[in-house]
Amino acid sequence: MTNKEAENTTDQAITIRNFMSETDIEIQRNELIKGLSSENKYISSKYFYDKKGSELFEEITKLEEYYPTRTELSILKNNAQILTKNFFDTNIIELGSGDCSKISLLLKAMTRNRIKTTTYTPVDVSKSAIEKSINQLAVKFPDLKIKAITADFMHHSNFIPDVKNKVICFFGSTIGNLNRSEAKEFIKNTANKMSPGDIFLLGTDMVKDIKILEKAYNDKLKITAAFNKNILNQVNKLLKTDFETDFFEHIAFFNKKESRIEMHLKAKTDMQISSPFLKEKLKLKKNETIHTENSHKFTKERIREFAEFTNLKTANIFTDKNQLFSLVQYIKL
Ligand code: SAH
Ligand code: AVI
Repeated sequence: MTNKEAENTTDQAITIRNFMSETDIEIQRNELIKGLSSENKYISSKYFYDKKGSELFEEITKLEEYYPTRTELSILKNNAQILTKNFFDTNIIELGSGDCSKISLLLKAMTRNRIKTTTYTPVDVSKSAIEKSINQLAVKFPDLKIKAITADFMHHSNFIPDVKNKVICFFGSTIGNLNRSEAKEFIKNTANKMSPGDIFLLGTDMVKDIKILEKAYNDKLKITAAFNKNILNQVNKLLKTDFETDFFEHIAFFNKKESRIEMHLKAKTDMQISSPFLKEKLKLKKNETIHTENSHKFTKERIREFAEFTNLKTANIFTDKNQLFSLVQYIKL
């Protein structure tokens, strides 16, 4: 075991493995500099999730306008028995696990004896989210083995453990935050790590009335605006810049052609930003925007397309009565 692994062990078989290293911080800095130096400036949405960002996201999930979380939770709750029917001696691996609230619903549907045979591996780029959520989960399910991983699922390739009876979960429509080619690549890589009979559970937010979509990203309490602006605090930490969040306006709209909500930060004034990692100052003009997130919305055709170029079979598409959200169950052939 290297010093990057096993940082923390307690009585209840809980471990956290850290895949993030100094090199990753350098990669992150370069990624940020590339995006902010481009003609059309952008910051990858994975930088939302520092401690404050993860907390703001949890607040978003409880907003009246933000229907995806409660809808996916209801789909999981209504189908928990069917979904966990064959879970015995199972290795559940959840990517972008956040607060682990969704897996709790599946675990609740399992008997104590079956939980005793289960290992749960949450994977998230946010160390604070991992630490907080696994401690809460361990209290709720004292018989569960938890082998948490902090990793960037786009950069680290070997974080999916080579174990049998895998159920890989990717909830919350986080797949929608990847662009089309990234999403395809991500599914292909995930499927390659699966053995015949392994399951992949994917949460996808569906195309719907634009008004519902745009309201979900422009809430009255302006929590989404705070979440969007907070990404600059993470940039300030990594690049030692001095972005002022108050100098930006939150923008979110549906791009019909690309079938996605886009979030941007619009500069309220001209500004010059310096960083010890930059040779020249970054210049932003009033009204210039920084693209911070895409949140793609899916159709059943696209869900099936994901299976077409991998050895996956679409076994079930569970949905709610208004077909707002889908939980797709793929099986590796
Ligand atoms: N699955 C939870 C959380 C969704 S929020 C839910 O459905 O509510 C998205 C989560 O993915 C956050 O916890 C964030 O930290 C994590 N995440 C985003 N990009 C990531 C990346 N590249 N690698 C690992 N985790 C990532
Ligand atoms: C995590 N992800 C799927 C959320 C989404 O809806 O795209 C993040 C989010 N952005 C704004 N509100 C929520």
